[in-house]
Amino acid sequence: MKQAYLDNSATTRPCEAAVEAMSRCMREGYYNPSSVYKSAVEVFRELRNARERLLAPVRGEGCELIFTSGGTEANNLAILGAVGRMRDRQVLAVSAVEHPSVRAAFDALADQGHDVRVIGVDGEGQLKWDELERVLADGASLVSCMQVNNETGALLDARRLHSVVNGRALIHVDGVQGYLRVPFDMRYADLYSLSGHKLHGPKGIGALIVKKSVRLLPRQLGGGQENGLRSGTENTPGIAGLAAAVAEMCALGADMPAELMAKKLRLIEAVRSAVPDVLVNGPAPEVAAPHIVNLGFPGVRGEVMLHALEGEGVYVSTGSACSSKKLKVSSVLTAMGVSPRTAEWAIRFSLSPHTTVEEIDYAADRIGALYDQLKRFQRR
Ligand SMILES: Cc1ncc(COP(=O)(O)O)c(C=O)c1O
Repeated sequence: MKQAYLDNSATTRPCEAAVEAMSRCMREGYYNPSSVYKSAVEVFRELRNARERLLAPVRGEGCELIFTSGGTEANNLAILGAVGRMRDRQVLAVSAVEHPSVRAAFDALADQGHDVRVIGVDGEGQLKWDELERVLADGASLVSCMQVNNETGALLDARRLHSVVNGRALIHVDGVQGYLRVPFDMRYADLYSLSGHKLHGPKGIGALIVKKSVRLLPRQLGGGQENGLRSGTENTPGIAGLAAAVAEMCALGADMPAELMAKKLRLIEAVRSAVPDVLVNGPAPEVAAPHIVNLGFPGVRGEVMLHALEGEGVYVSTGSACSSKKLKVSSVLTAMGVSPRTAEWAIRFSLSPHTTVEEIDYAADRIGALYDQLKRFQRR
């Protein structure tokens, strides 16, 4: 059966270079980077090279990079670590459409007595800048916003965020869905999170990029690895795999985002010609991230469409992978003002630079055929 994997924001298939690098690291370079003999020092050097490789694409040369177990831990360390170094009760700002790994960290801080303010978004998923301005005027010390929304592809205007904040608060950007697919510059953030398995690297590895001036309270104590900020013997195979995946993504060249956008627009056009009523939830596709689009199929519940597509070898999701099993309407779409009924029809399509035109055309063809069948059973 033909297949189309269009769930790359849930996870991506590790590239051959990542698999190779990991297996080489486990077979030959398995030494502990904290050991002092030559082979171990070589592994330590590889870690340093990996850090440089990850920092360069976001112009983070002067920053520190802490390897973590993924995006969740990077987000937790950024938020809980930064606030952990602050005194007294803080005013904190977080956008209404963040990933649970950010939301839950702020919930924990609210439980500890901090004044957490949720900044709303408009129908395009853009921050309500006037709300942010008010929270900053009240003395907010940390602002957290994602670079690319995992459900809608809405993009953060990081330059504007930086200029609105104007040095009054630390800025944390969750770059898990943006890193290497949408350009970013560490000039605009103090803390930036990324994850390996979203960009054809392995699962269980990610990183937090931190400006040198920012002080964090470590959340994992022990041997003092990662500059004392994340103890535990480093996941050297994971790091090797991540560095290889980053190298491969970078080698795709400067045209990659535009090519990815062209594929996404092709998907939307092909779906629209098969299903003229299709809705786009979120920003206009041309001004969103090049790899994510959220479409609504009127009258057909997202999970019904998802499982029907699965039967045809087309893999998508109804929202973020972590929340899609909970069978409730997306809080991201709700925050954008999408009605619960419309939100029920949502399907997220997420591409990778390796998504083929054949996959896109096959998926659109199957969607058209299934929609015609499924809408006959729609609830009236
Ligand atoms: C925006 C965003 N942040 C954080 C995460 C968590 O990353 P990880 O799976 O590496 O813990 C995800 C994963 O879906 C995500 O989409």
